Amino acid sequence: MIPTQSISTLLLRICAVIFVAQMAAAAAAPREQLSLDANWRFHLGDIPLNSFPGGQGVALYGPDFTHSGAKAGSVWGAAARGFDDSSWRQVNLPHDWAVEQVFDPKAEKQEGYRPRGIGWYRRMFKLDPADRGKNIELQFDGVATHCTVYFNGTEVAHNFCGYTSIYVDVSPMVRYGDNINTIAVRVDADAMEGWWYEGAGIYRHTWLVKRSPVHVVTDGVYANPVRSADGKWTIPAEVTLGNTGHGAASASVEIGVFDSSGKKIAGGLSAAVNLVPMEQVEAKLSISVKSPQLWSVDHPNLYEVRTMVLSDNQPVDAVSTMCGFRTIRFDVKEGFFLNDQPLKLQGTCNHQDHAGVGVAVPDSIQDFRIRKLKEMGANAYRTSHNPPSRELLDICDQLGMLVMDETRHFNASPEYLKQLEWLVRRDRNHPSVILWSLFNEEGLEVNEEGMEMTRAMNEVVKRLDTTRPTTGAQNKGQLGRDGKANPKNAAWTMDVVGINYQASDYDKILAAYPDKPIVSTEDTSQVMTRGEYATDYSRNIVAAYDDVYPGWDKCSSARNSWEAIATRPRIAAGFSWTGFDYRGEPTPYGWPSASSFFGAMDLCGFPKTEFYIRQALWVKDKPVLTLVPHWNWPGKEGQPVKVMALANCEKVELFLNGKSLGEKPVDKFQMVSWEVPYAPGKLEAVGKTNGKKVSEFAVETTGEPVALRLVPDRKTLAGDGCDAEPVTVEVVDAQGRLVPVAQNQVNFVIEGAGKILGVGNGDPNCHEPEVFLPPAPRSVPVSGWRWKLATVPNDRSVLPEYANDFDDSTWKELKRTDNNTIRREHATAIYRAHVVLTEEDLQSAEMRLHAAGCDDEGWFFVNNQLAGESHDWAAQPVFDIKKFLHVGDNVIAVGVKNSYGQGGLKPDVKLDLVGESKSLPWSRNLFNGLAQIIVQPTEVAGEIKLIASADGLHPATVTVQTQPCAPRPFVP
Ligand code: GAL
Repeated sequence: MIPTQSISTLLLRICAVIFVAQMAAAAAAPREQLSLDANWRFHLGDIPLNSFPGGQGVALYGPDFTHSGAKAGSVWGAAARGFDDSSWRQVNLPHDWAVEQVFDPKAEKQEGYRPRGIGWYRRMFKLDPADRGKNIELQFDGVATHCTVYFNGTEVAHNFCGYTSIYVDVSPMVRYGDNINTIAVRVDADAMEGWWYEGAGIYRHTWLVKRSPVHVVTDGVYANPVRSADGKWTIPAEVTLGNTGHGAASASVEIGVFDSSGKKIAGGLSAAVNLVPMEQVEAKLSISVKSPQLWSVDHPNLYEVRTMVLSDNQPVDAVSTMCGFRTIRFDVKEGFFLNDQPLKLQGTCNHQDHAGVGVAVPDSIQDFRIRKLKEMGANAYRTSHNPPSRELLDICDQLGMLVMDETRHFNASPEYLKQLEWLVRRDRNHPSVILWSLFNEEGLEVNEEGMEMTRAMNEVVKRLDTTRPTTGAQNKGQLGRDGKANPKNAAWTMDVVGINYQASDYDKILAAYPDKPIVSTEDTSQVMTRGEYATDYSRNIVAAYDDVYPGWDKCSSARNSWEAIATRPRIAAGFSWTGFDYRGEPTPYGWPSASSFFGAMDLCGFPKTEFYIRQALWVKDKPVLTLVPHWNWPGKEGQPVKVMALANCEKVELFLNGKSLGEKPVDKFQMVSWEVPYAPGKLEAVGKTNGKKVSEFAVETTGEPVALRLVPDRKTLAGDGCDAEPVTVEVVDAQGRLVPVAQNQVNFVIEGAGKILGVGNGDPNCHEPEVFLPPAPRSVPVSGWRWKLATVPNDRSVLPEYANDFDDSTWKELKRTDNNTIRREHATAIYRAHVVLTEEDLQSAEMRLHAAGCDDEGWFFVNNQLAGESHDWAAQPVFDIKKFLHVGDNVIAVGVKNSYGQGGLKPDVKLDLVGESKSLPWSRNLFNGLAQIIVQPTEVAGEIKLIASADGLHPATVTVQTQPCAPRPFVP
């Protein structure tokens, strides 16, 4: 069985593969889009550029350093080609190092009290000589927060936005065959761009694209279908072509439009364009499409646009783009229309982090999140306050979720306008995207400056896309002191007026802007702790009754906010703050609360009361009825407990232990509640419309926890090393009922074809680790060297001087500065040192001996056994010597031969202890009955077995099958 969420993605990939295969048949060199996500090395902390000599082993300092370090190809430090990163931790991307850090009250509250800092990433790869002449581009989809990219020892890119992509054409700098290419990335995550958790590191995907010198540039296809006044559909395609070849070229573009079964339904060919090297030119063509199936939130029909570049009548490049046929319209009086049908936008604002993984959210967890929002009845998503990942928009296209796509910076200077331009170019084919958002709550939004900045940004958007309106999320400034329109504020220069909060001024704003469509770009900001029903300021807990919200800016309950929006047809949308909790902004608290309380769901996606409220408000096509709270209140017998029925029916009758507590009408927005004197047992609700029972719901007092239960989101995953899913951990009583107050500590073990990426429980106050890492590499210095000139044959002979019990007490000491001890050409010497190791040291997965150099040749013996040899004076040899070591005293002996110059063993030798062979002790406390494990399959298909255990409870085991599947093409 194919996992449902992956079907569309899979189809898309299959179509793309067939398409590329067709291309390959016709052309020698089809485009390759290769994942670069695997096999990076990561180092937490900065490494100053002058800390280590540059690429060629030239050990110069002072003026010589600055001179050579300033040259292309010769940058120094960890950016250098020859830098030894073998002791760095191996990581796969996406990676967020902030989520791995220990909570610290001194760290920034808005970043979730997680220290961030500076880190380095490095990766090497080889290119086939057959790639010579191709256009080669490196792509980073998102790096938090500021970063500098080095390629083969040259600085090639800076990025000052953690949410925009970096594309670097490295074609002139690449090396082929056995010449290794080196990427080094310095990430400065001390910089903040927002007031929420932003993560740290290369947290989105990375790619290497190989394509013909004449090619479609990245994000170069604009193929957004439009319907003309006569009702006919066309795709007015614009394709930006580049040429990095050696001479001018002529190229044309052929486009085919394919339906989901792979059938071609339309196509066309552009006129030829001339391409001067290093110039970009647009080829244009218009394609008529007859009676396409429309894209909508309920039927998200997608079509594939295959763009092929022909040069000299040969296909040289091809790109596949998805699109959807739909119309959108924001009406001044009646709100939003999708395909000419009115649709109130039931939206949520969201940041991008999830439990266990921080901002490095696997694509399938994004898919899970959008599915949860749809289950809540949402049809719109605001990417507050930054560009989302490319994959998030693909998923919104596939699942039918409309998107308000937001740029990070309100800034009309050239660099920031480029960021906005990048956003529009990247995202303008997505049928899900319906609004461009230019800012959120900016101080300047209230005056002429803000109005002019908005105007400039709006113009930039319009140059690239006239089909979607712009907006900006304004929390003030639309009205003057007189309550009438403020003549100079940002609202005038955007298409749709965006209101954050200000609900009590809605009517004044509507009256002030009679000719503008209006959306609530942000509202609500109610706070809740999942499963808690009494606010307790001493424990940083907020009751989940939808009655607590911050005092500022007329925030309100979820019910009041929606009532204000739903009852005003002119307000096209409501985007509640927020769909999911996120790290940082722990309003109304501070330490120890590390994540927000705003979500309708917690950080894991477990529903809070607001989720059920929104369902009752938003779901129209089926009955909704839920009761809160749970019914476990020992000690409260006879005392009143507030019970809310969240329902979309006309009346609800409530029963306690079979006895009716009366029937009440349900207010469409406020719903209905009772004060019920508590008695353990069963609380039941029956929902009625037109006098008939339409829904029922029951909640029961449970027994004590007796067992654990594991519930995977899907039973089958793709065995591609990328898929991932949340597995819910529940604790149940003897009758299998979830115990909603259980807080047990649970341990997890995973076996077989998967690994755990992270764990969470949705408690904003929890400081347990989300990620369990092998201990960081430690170094043990190998010191106390003694040496002596002695005969060393030019082979691997084992000499008596290498023996552990050899007495070297009369040999000379090797000082730390003694880099050249032999000082005679063609002479040899032996060096000996001892290193004492503990049992714990020997637990390391690898024990790497690093030597700073051995001039000219050396034979390394560990406990009298040959562990490695070096025949290059400039090399810094590294050997994994674990198998030769034992607990207690170990002897390292090196026979060295000096051929030319002075020679000898450099005294700077260390032993790096890397990783731990024991499996990691993953664990998590349940929070109000629940926890979550994020599981990822390996590339090898098989079975994942996940085992949960806790003191005094029956353990739980669940198996998930992973199915063989072609891995994403990748760079080895
Ligand atoms: C809004 C702001 C959001 C978040 C929210 C918290 O004003 O746009 O980013 O800070 O308040 O209530």
